[in-house]
Amino acid sequence: AKTRGLRFGSCVSWSQSGADRASFANPAYAALLERDCGVLVAENEFKWQALRPDAKTFDVERFADMIDYAEAKGMAMRGHTLFWHKTERFPRWLLDHDFGADPKKEATRLLTQHIKTVGKLYAGRIASFDVVNETVDDQTGALRESNVSKAMGGTEAMLDLAFHTARAAAPDAELVYNDYMSWEPGQGPFRSGVLKMLEAFRKRGVPCDTLGLQSHIWVGNEPTARLVGRQESDWRAFLDEVVGMGYRLAITEFDVNDAALPADIATRDRAIADYSKAYLDICLSYTQLKDVLAWGMCDKYTWLNGFSPRKDKAPMRATPYDAAFKPKPLYTAIRQAL
Ligand code: XIL
Repeated sequence: AKTRGLRFGSCVSWSQSGADRASFANPAYAALLERDCGVLVAENEFKWQALRPDAKTFDVERFADMIDYAEAKGMAMRGHTLFWHKTERFPRWLLDHDFGADPKKEATRLLTQHIKTVGKLYAGRIASFDVVNETVDDQTGALRESNVSKAMGGTEAMLDLAFHTARAAAPDAELVYNDYMSWEPGQGPFRSGVLKMLEAFRKRGVPCDTLGLQSHIWVGNEPTARLVGRQESDWRAFLDEVVGMGYRLAITEFDVNDAALPADIATRDRAIADYSKAYLDICLSYTQLKDVLAWGMCDKYTWLNGFSPRKDKAPMRATPYDAAFKPKPLYTAIRQAL
């Protein structure tokens, strides 16, 4: 990746559901992160859920450990995310927050305080922030609303404030809008909604540099060769429009859901590797894309086992390394794509 001017990386997590205190504190896991990654991102520890136990307090202890670790090992750190605008992901206190007699003022204060505090704290150390995460409805393409955006007087006002505040707090950082885009079919209205939002950013002068393509892809039983043509042209048309507006691209959360595949591991691994290689090749044909981050390096820790378990309860083969830290065909596919 480095020789091509690209950067490969992964998320890391503090606490997993298993017995490990932290994935990066497991020496076997740390070894492969340090071998393969030029950039890390906290899986959960930079979100409001983690940093904001309540409306007044900031608790950066766990994240601080992670960024110290990354820097000690010569790895960069991404910031995910300054605002995850999806109410299911709000901390309880934010859902219940009393915006008082002047809701716009209170919402502006709350959002500004968070982004300014965290942005300034890590300006110069975090070179790329997901400023807003997942604010386009994947079914309709409309902007999602929340008690915060309603108090602000609309989601556009919330987006403007978030990006301008981030730019002021960390002027040299790349500012990203991140959402769960990928080349999967059925994303027509979703993609149109994202394009409309990105276009409106340009008209309003919103300082957003990059579209983050989460890339949680899922592989079905149809051979990749048959899918490529079908899924490729729509995906390219979308990416062409995004880069045509002057945005850069980043793959921010790559992993592969194999819930639809049969149990046999060799078959699954082959299908996952082929499908991933095809997807990454298309994305990497865009010179505007420099960062490829996996959402976890090892099947032992993948969130997908909890989020969408396979019917046979077998662990997902979603990441480059198996649960025993051995590289799989997906690892080779990623290497080849890079
Ligand atoms: C996920 C984490 O992996 C889980 O541990 C957590 O319970 C929920 O969030 N899109 C995102 C990421 O932007 O923050 C999500 O991470 C996965 C989907």
